Amino acid sequence: MKKVTKKNSRRRFIKQNLLTGAGAMLGISSVSAFFPGRKGKDINTPAILGGAPVLSSPQKPKWSGWPIWDPQTDEPQVLDVLRSGVWSRARVVTQFENEWAKTIGAKRCLTVVNGTNAMICSLVNLNIGGGDEVIIPPYTFIATPQAVLQTGAMPIFVDTDPETFQIDVNKIEEKITPRTRAILPVHIGGLPSDMERIMQIAQKYNLVVVEDACQAWLAEINHKKMGTFGNAGCFSFQNSKNIPIGEGGAIVSDDEEFMDRCYSYHNYGISHGSMIEKYGSGPAMFGTKLRMTEYQAAIGLAQLKRLEGQTVTRNENAAYLKSQIGNIPGIKPYKLYDHVTRAAFHIFFFRYQKEEFKGLSRAQFLKALNAEGVPCSGGYATLNDKPYLGNAFQSKNFKKMYPDEMLDFKRYVERNHCPQNDRLCNEEAVWFMQELLLGPRSDMDYIAAAINKIYRNAEAIKKS
Ligand SMILES: Cc1ncc(COP(=O)(O)O)c(C=O)c1O
Repeated sequence: MKKVTKKNSRRRFIKQNLLTGAGAMLGISSVSAFFPGRKGKDINTPAILGGAPVLSSPQKPKWSGWPIWDPQTDEPQVLDVLRSGVWSRARVVTQFENEWAKTIGAKRCLTVVNGTNAMICSLVNLNIGGGDEVIIPPYTFIATPQAVLQTGAMPIFVDTDPETFQIDVNKIEEKITPRTRAILPVHIGGLPSDMERIMQIAQKYNLVVVEDACQAWLAEINHKKMGTFGNAGCFSFQNSKNIPIGEGGAIVSDDEEFMDRCYSYHNYGISHGSMIEKYGSGPAMFGTKLRMTEYQAAIGLAQLKRLEGQTVTRNENAAYLKSQIGNIPGIKPYKLYDHVTRAAFHIFFFRYQKEEFKGLSRAQFLKALNAEGVPCSGGYATLNDKPYLGNAFQSKNFKKMYPDEMLDFKRYVERNHCPQNDRLCNEEAVWFMQELLLGPRSDMDYIAAAINKIYRNAEAIKKS
């Protein structure tokens, strides 16, 4: 099958696959012995200090570009929509919704314009709004707290479990107040949060649960998909995501009445399903417009065909990479909760502990690893102490909805202090994005060899 990616030409894709077998049997220690460095450069010297990267071209991994598509099967699907002249929500969107509901194991799915609005729509239609508190983790994308603020509710941050990178379930109950109405766990990186414990807490305190599964397509606990544990599950199909459409989002749920309200809300408040009998077929509730287009759905259907196979590859490569780097001192790969049967691996996380690397800072480590040809980053900055919150609290609506003491930003920041998360964001987290997990196993060996090389040369890099 021919595939195209944004960065990769077809020829490059084929070449990449031809290399799959070549490096597959390489162990970490054998890598530098097997491949000579670039002419004139020493392969044992870190690339950041002028040496050659671990492997020299052409053996160096050709990381997958993103998104990937197949011109033979995907392009006709999109062209059909274009040529039909029906571009607004119709048959193809419904087909994609049915497929996504089936894939996730939910009764219903509603597509919307993006993951952010999937969460806003879910929260609003579960009656979350002004004066309410919603519990969220701080280790997430800005869209999560913004979605809560958009409803008029106040995000309350619960610290991160540094081993799993997920919300620390042991710290949720201490943040519950009489105003708490919802928990919004985020399966960050596509690794499942501890949903069994979260649902127990939600039941105990009568809270609704909206899952931010925007990075967790096909991830599972006990073979049950993320997004199906709470009252609603929200997904994103933005361009970088494991199922990319450019923009797009979805809500899944088994609650038919809730889904009818969400549908109505996403279509100007016009009655839908069970609402029609009660209110007639015209506008029945307040709403907005969040409809997905037909050509987005056509891309979604095409992408969906690849998701299962890519997810298997990401899981295999992640487990292998974890086994290869987990014994390097100072490298602490993600941990999965006990009942996780599959993760989505939108991000491969590990913690970097500089004490084991002769005090080499994370910033220097990231630079050195990038220089070896391994794209990586330090990931998210903290979100629980930034001005967007204080400014939201000074808005007209928030001033009307909350007592002054709750809007005092200094007090809010103290109440929402998350020291473990600060450490992850500011000092320890290292990320590889999902594309790095799509290549051959030898790519994982390359990453492990590069980290080992930096470990061996930490002192010299630090001094440079
Ligand atoms: C964890 C998380 N939540 C929410 C979103 C928002 O999704 P979107 O960009 O589709 O609005 C994203 C994606 O960007 C995300 O990564």
